[in-house]
Amino acid sequence: MLPKRRRARVGTPGAISSAACFPGVTIYLAEPRMGRSRRAFLTRLALSKGFRVLDAYSSQVTHVVMEQTSAEDAVCWLESRAAPLPPGCASPALLDISWFTESMAAGQPVPVECRHRLEVAVSRKGLPSPVWMLPYACQRPTPLTHHNTSFSEALETLAEAAGFEGSEGRLLSFYRSASVLKALPSPVTALSQLQGLPHFGEHSCRVVQELLEHGVCDEVERVRLSERYQSMKLFTGIFGVGVRTADQWYREGLRTLDDVRKQVQRLTQQQKAGLQHYGDLSRPVQRSDAEALQLVVEAAVGQALPGATVTLAGSFRRGKSQGHDVDFLITHPQEGQEVGLLPRVLCYLKKQGLVLYQQHRRCRDHAHWMRQSHNMDTFESSFCIFRLLRPSGAAVGGPQRPGPAWKAVRVDLVVVPIGQYPFALLGWTGSKHFERELRRFSRTERGLWLNSRGLYDPEQSRETPDPVCHSSETLGGRSASRTPWMPLATECLQA
Ligand code: CTP
Ligand code: MN
Ligand code: MN
Repeated sequence: MLPKRRRARVGTPGAISSAACFPGVTIYLAEPRMGRSRRAFLTRLALSKGFRVLDAYSSQVTHVVMEQTSAEDAVCWLESRAAPLPPGCASPALLDISWFTESMAAGQPVPVECRHRLEVAVSRKGLPSPVWMLPYACQRPTPLTHHNTSFSEALETLAEAAGFEGSEGRLLSFYRSASVLKALPSPVTALSQLQGLPHFGEHSCRVVQELLEHGVCDEVERVRLSERYQSMKLFTGIFGVGVRTADQWYREGLRTLDDVRKQVQRLTQQQKAGLQHYGDLSRPVQRSDAEALQLVVEAAVGQALPGATVTLAGSFRRGKSQGHDVDFLITHPQEGQEVGLLPRVLCYLKKQGLVLYQQHRRCRDHAHWMRQSHNMDTFESSFCIFRLLRPSGAAVGGPQRPGPAWKAVRVDLVVVPIGQYPFALLGWTGSKHFERELRRFSRTERGLWLNSRGLYDPEQSRETPDPVCHSSETLGGRSASRTPWMPLATECLQA
């Protein structure tokens, strides 16, 4: 049973929301690109002006209003919704938001003109069949290997370069358009195939167009060859160096690893370790390495706490054959048993000489958690560099030049109480873009907040923690706004 406020918000499907001042006009606001909160706002606005607005699509609808939707998307949407019309019923008009805003400004429905209509903007004849693509990356499958690698890599380079300039908005839009391309069922061969795809702005279209026409995109090549991009990529590739530090070094004139080594006195311990093992850490970790490390970590965890489990997360859990590090989640079926486990595991591994560097992060206290942004997790964790011994007989370099007996590998160990484990596993599986989209989807489309500890309903916020709630759950529900929220049950994740 939903709480009263949520029941009201969800509404009764198909209910007629208002008595009509304008007979002959029944509006349906189609949600795909609009988002739930904006739709609710526009609904209230229209109701306040005496328009009749239906909450669910039906044959009574005369005006379907869409936002940021192409003609093809609109037609696809209608075809997927509309049952055969009763005799004498006309199809609803598929309208751009401009008709709605003009009508609201006029206080009455303005006559529908050609420019308002979505369905006449593009004739479907002669175009390749449009792909109906859901707008959030977390709503669609993204296969490991896909048909548009050269396009997605070009766009991801621009996203990365935007990130180096601190331009979060541009970073997101390039990642979003790259992610859409990865989900397409076939290679893009003509620019017209991009029409109607979500998140495909003018800039991303231009990149694809150039690649289609010339095989290269000037802007992308310029970025890839630029001193700025190459230095930033080099510096941020050092363990412990983020965009801000890399930018500062660049502005001070540093360009190479040797330049950085000369400044050793200002490096953190983590950066020193990163620099020391740069060669190994900059080469991809193979799945076989991850599997070997899992055995090592399992042995240490089993020794420190029998019954505790170790799960491979991150890129390898997504099925990738290579990664930049190996991520492990550690838990125990009995909540509370995991407390104090990580130092014991690391102590055991250190005694075996397998830990080259480790930075332990304690589970944050209450006050610290409250200062965190909602999507940062604060599990007890360790960001390590492990010494991975080469299996005997696998020396690289041939019999004349045997390779080193070990290599350095980045490993993240995260300890999670079992009650939060499903959310932690979801959060630590990634990709980063998928997680970001999932949180955006939860917030915008469901009104719920998701992080690696739980899924929270802000409408159930209260000023004091619920005394019957388990303390770790209460901590997990804290938001940056310092309002403790109650986590929802795990099953809600499947909704
Ligand atoms: N993550 C997190 N909190 C952190 C670090 C990572 O929640 N402090 C999550 C991110 O959502 C990320 C996942 O854990 O998607 C794995 O992070 P990371 O190892 O950085 O990326 P991967 O996807 O595993 O890719 P790679 O092969 O580069 O390691
Ligand atoms: Mn990883
Ligand atoms: Mn990681």
